[in-house]
Amino acid sequence: MAFFSNWFKFTSRDMAIDLGTANTVVYVRGHGIVLNEPSVVAVETLNGVKRVKAVGEDAKLMMGKTPDSIEAIRPLRDGVIADIDIAEQMIKWFISKVHGHRRFPRFPEIVICVPSGSTSVERRAIRDAASNAGASQVFLIEEPMAAAIGADMPVTEPIGSMVVDIGGGTTEVAVLSLRGLAYTTSVRVGGDKMDEAIVSYVRRHHNLLIGEATAERIKKEYGIAQKPADGVGATIHIKGRDLVNGVPKEIAINQGQIADALAEPIGTIVEGVRIALENTAPELAADIVDQGIVLTGGGALLKGLDEELRDETGLPVTVAEDPLTCVAIGTGRAMEDPVFRGVLQTA
Ligand SMILES: Nc1ncnc2c1ncn2[C@@H]1O[C@H](COP(=O)(O)OP(=O)(O)OP(=O)(O)O)[C@@H](O)[C@H]1O
Ligand SMILES: [Mg+2]
Repeated sequence: MAFFSNWFKFTSRDMAIDLGTANTVVYVRGHGIVLNEPSVVAVETLNGVKRVKAVGEDAKLMMGKTPDSIEAIRPLRDGVIADIDIAEQMIKWFISKVHGHRRFPRFPEIVICVPSGSTSVERRAIRDAASNAGASQVFLIEEPMAAAIGADMPVTEPIGSMVVDIGGGTTEVAVLSLRGLAYTTSVRVGGDKMDEAIVSYVRRHHNLLIGEATAERIKKEYGIAQKPADGVGATIHIKGRDLVNGVPKEIAINQGQIADALAEPIGTIVEGVRIALENTAPELAADIVDQGIVLTGGGALLKGLDEELRDETGLPVTVAEDPLTCVAIGTGRAMEDPVFRGVLQTA
């Protein structure tokens, strides 16, 4: 039996990868999700030579805290590939973390979900990186399609449905029907812009400088898309550096103020959804009235965002079961289930 279970591991090396601007999630055929780490690489420069020091969780912990010789890089910032060499090293590192350096009877197939804002040159570069890492065949899949499959939406049927994937760098809005994207639009606003909005609100109103990591923590814990009923909500204590006298300091703000800080990025997301609805063919729009809108991506976890979209569109809005892994699960299913083969792209 031991022999067979090892053999099984050896033959199921095929992988689906959600290469996100904030997180990379890896799914292995027959096993499901095996890795979920921040898309961050810490690079050390010694005597002019660059070397990868840490990747993923370990590298994210260094963000904003590195000495001059080390830089924590997010190679896929803003929904595009900002640094392809580092992105390639990151992909290879994650693949070898999943598989180690074992030898295999055959090379694996890899399906990668790419930010839909990426250019054909960038897509080719990602494909080459996966090939260099040992893949025999590389397929790409559009992020909204993967998100919709992962959220169990009826993408293969002649029924229109709308998915809104709010990631770190971008928000993708898409209408799907019959294995295809009937309409898609993407706005360069996601979780990162929400973090930046909190940083600049605190700087403007309290003369306090805080880091991105702190802003992200505040957003996840207290962030809210609509003002609390009493306009104030919970009180939050934030530490940072005073801009006037330069020393560390702590201030208090409330959830109502966080809602004010987030109003602009959220408004942009709502606007993207509105534009998509306006551009949807009438028959598909009629389906969306029944099916509603499904939210995926980490940004879907922001408190009250579903409510805000419901108020603004008058449509039913639901959050997918596990928004952070939805895209990876959909990419994995597209790889495993022949029903979805048609949605995979070779270039
Ligand atoms: N509870 C939460 N509330 C609000 N935002 C959250 C929460 N949990 C995670 N996020 C945010 O979700 C974002 C990451 O989401 P996700 O992993 O879907 O992005 P990604 O797929 O890497 O990015 P992209 O799709 O743009 O390439 C981050 O900005 C993170 O701060
Ligand atoms: Mg994503």
